[in-house]
Amino acid sequence: MFDIEFFDKSKLLMPVSSAAPSSAATAHISVSRQARSVPGSALRGTCRLPGDKSLSQRALICAALAIGESRLENMLDSADVRATADALSLLGAGIARDKTSWRVRGCGVGGFGAPGQTLHLGNAGTGVRLLMGALASSPHAVRLSGDASLSRRPMARVLAPLSAMGVMAHARAGEHLPLRLIPPPRLSPVRFTLPVPSAQVKSALIFAALGAGGESEICEPVPSRDHTERMLPLFGGVCRRTAWRRGWRLSIPGDQSLRAARVRMAGDPSAAAFLMVAASICRGAEIRLKDCMLNPHRLGFVRALTRMGGALTRLKTRRVGGEEVADFHVRAAPLRGIRAPARDAPAMIDEIPILAVAAAFARGHTRFAGLSELRVKESDRLAAIHDGLSANGVPVRRGEDWLEIQGADTVPGGGFVRARRDHRIAMAFLVLGMAAEQPVRVDSADMIATSYPNFFADMRALGAQLDG
Ligand code: S3P
Repeated sequence: MFDIEFFDKSKLLMPVSSAAPSSAATAHISVSRQARSVPGSALRGTCRLPGDKSLSQRALICAALAIGESRLENMLDSADVRATADALSLLGAGIARDKTSWRVRGCGVGGFGAPGQTLHLGNAGTGVRLLMGALASSPHAVRLSGDASLSRRPMARVLAPLSAMGVMAHARAGEHLPLRLIPPPRLSPVRFTLPVPSAQVKSALIFAALGAGGESEICEPVPSRDHTERMLPLFGGVCRRTAWRRGWRLSIPGDQSLRAARVRMAGDPSAAAFLMVAASICRGAEIRLKDCMLNPHRLGFVRALTRMGGALTRLKTRRVGGEEVADFHVRAAPLRGIRAPARDAPAMIDEIPILAVAAAFARGHTRFAGLSELRVKESDRLAAIHDGLSANGVPVRRGEDWLEIQGADTVPGGGFVRARRDHRIAMAFLVLGMAAEQPVRVDSADMIATSYPNFFADMRALGAQLDG
């Protein structure tokens, strides 16, 4: 409901999650809810994908850094996105939402207010890292915290280049949340080459560079998702890109101002991956997915699943916001094992858990390489995948940065999976249970609300039998 007066201070400071509560998504998840999936359903029907999480996070931050009122459509209404919105509200952005769109009254680059309390980002890794960049040109020191999982994740990768720009940070054990960020009176531009392919680090630096006193240069030897680069021009921002090695050199002028925009979020390919694999492995399945974003840095899993023999057909390509989207038709198909080299990993890093499930149903041997980043996601996903597959009778081996899975036409299932409070691990193993011989139980499914609050509803509407 658009009933919030944007400049009524008392309402402005009301977090989005309490302004309009929803049972599907709450910013701070505390309950631990078990779930179970039962085999035997032939998935059928059409599913409209939720708005993309990476885009929704970026759109909120761009809008909060802009002057004027932005309108953001098809936003993902998940706990992670709400956590970022709550933090931005506390920094002075006016945020109100109805069913289909969010309105954001921005503060301008360098215009955030003093939040007066710690900004708690819950489980939102993208939210906290991107926000650190946006806060670099703020006139106020800010304290940031997160849940237990986020507090274990490395922040030095963002803090080191920010400190080269003049930002001071006091972080637990040098690099962990909670931390206090103290921006300098005048932010210096930065020249930085990303040591790991990370869109979060790149985007944090792009947001910081907008408020620096000169042109910054960011080089990425291995390309990562480029949503920030595509979205900034929609808000009047400048980020020039030239080819460099296998990736890009970005030049970002300083002292920029952004203007409000109307932006629609493309559908989330990372949510689509669970549906696509479910339809590929459930006998007799045939589904259609609407509005899937086609950003090539997100579609590694489509390429991998197609190489496995997945029957995916792309229909009706069009443009939404700064991204291309298409509908997909997916039907069940016999899968075969593949070798996925390290260079393929960055474009499918979030989809490795569900691709590992596909590999369990793929005849022969599958090997994924280049997975070191998996160990520092919402959980140590390499260990979580290994343990989850083992618990369900799937032969699997892992090393420091690789995973090998021996697939077969039938998978025993029947396991109890420790999801380690990681949304993608929980969803991946619930999908495994849809096509296994025996039901699969997952110890905690509540974290699914961080990225895909309608997972249960969407899967059930297609015919999946899920309890929880
Ligand atoms: C994201 C980037 C990726 C990804 C994460 C979302 C983003 O993380 O795993 O889920 O929106 O920029 P890294 O930047 O750590 O690779």
